Amino acid sequence: TPAHRITTRLTADADGIAEAARLLGAGRVVAIPTETVYGLAADASNPQAVAAIYAAKERPRFNPLISHLPDEAAARREGMFDEAADALATAFWPGPLTLVVPTAPGGSVCDLARAGLPSVALRVPANRIAREVLARVGRPIAAPSANRSGRVSPTSADHVLGDLDGRIAAVLDGGPCPVGIESTVVACLGGMPRLLRPGGVTRAELRRVLGADPAAATTESERPIGPGLLASHYAPRAAVRLDAEQVAAGEAVLLFGNARPAGLDAAVAVENLSRTGDLAEAAARLFETLRRLDASGAATIAVVPIPQEGLGEAINDRLGRAAAPR
Ligand code: TXA
Ligand code: MG
Repeated sequence: TPAHRITTRLTADADGIAEAARLLGAGRVVAIPTETVYGLAADASNPQAVAAIYAAKERPRFNPLISHLPDEAAARREGMFDEAADALATAFWPGPLTLVVPTAPGGSVCDLARAGLPSVALRVPANRIAREVLARVGRPIAAPSANRSGRVSPTSADHVLGDLDGRIAAVLDGGPCPVGIESTVVACLGGMPRLLRPGGVTRAELRRVLGADPAAATTESERPIGPGLLASHYAPRAAVRLDAEQVAAGEAVLLFGNARPAGLDAAVAVENLSRTGDLAEAAARLFETLRRLDASGAATIAVVPIPQEGLGEAINDRLGRAAAPR
């Protein structure tokens, strides 16, 4: 069990940011806000610090983690960028995009953070607080989502504490995460870039920059990949039933737009991801809303169909994982 008894909630002012950076520099684990979800951060160049992330999360095995940098120049010291990676970094950094690229000679991300792979996952987040912390630490910071393994990703400091209070040194409270869903992961390892995980940057946005659709992840060569790709990730306690056209008595219901499934009156809890049908709003509210429906105690959360366009692809990816058998 981890050594921390007390998790400090740091206000994201100059002092809080300095303290978060100091703790990270000292090899401790701190949850930090990003524009996507809260990250469980530690010094990616320090294998003991990275091991403490896995311990806090109770991750069943060592999966490659995303390393976060304050700017593109810092990222380029850690990885080798081909033409596609160049174009994607220019278009989407800082922002909700992660690039998996070959490790640069002299790169400092430790083997454990890369799960022994010759590639490294790099991201420059857009959140101002995160970038100030990263600039102060001056080393790449590994950060998976700040939840216990298999649980719903956190989009507020309260969510982080609900899962990890007493297990990490501190959480830097930067308010709610505006994107609300993890970064899009694209591998640029030669040949056509491959979309490993849909996320905050949509397929259409990638296509605009690449001039073509990204390729799909090839299961064989991309197998040693994090639990972000395991089917039963992002799971609330309740079972999740997708594409619900009617509601059974006692179910909790997740709506989108003006869908009104039959039997809605018999639901124990109802939430709408976006009444206006705005997929960005729906992404921002997805994890928080799943938590609220879960807290109703319903055995099942019925989810109405959500369009598979724009951010709908990432939303449906996360809902599909939440619905997978476990
Ligand atoms: O939005 C996000 O990306 C959040 C915030 C905190 O930045 N972070 C996050 O990190 O989701 P993490 O470590 O849970 O994401 C791991 C994902 C894996 O599922 C995998 O898809 C990919 O990153 N990944 C990391 N390293 C890789 C590698 N060397 N090869 C292939 N995929 C890799
Ligand atoms: Mg996660």
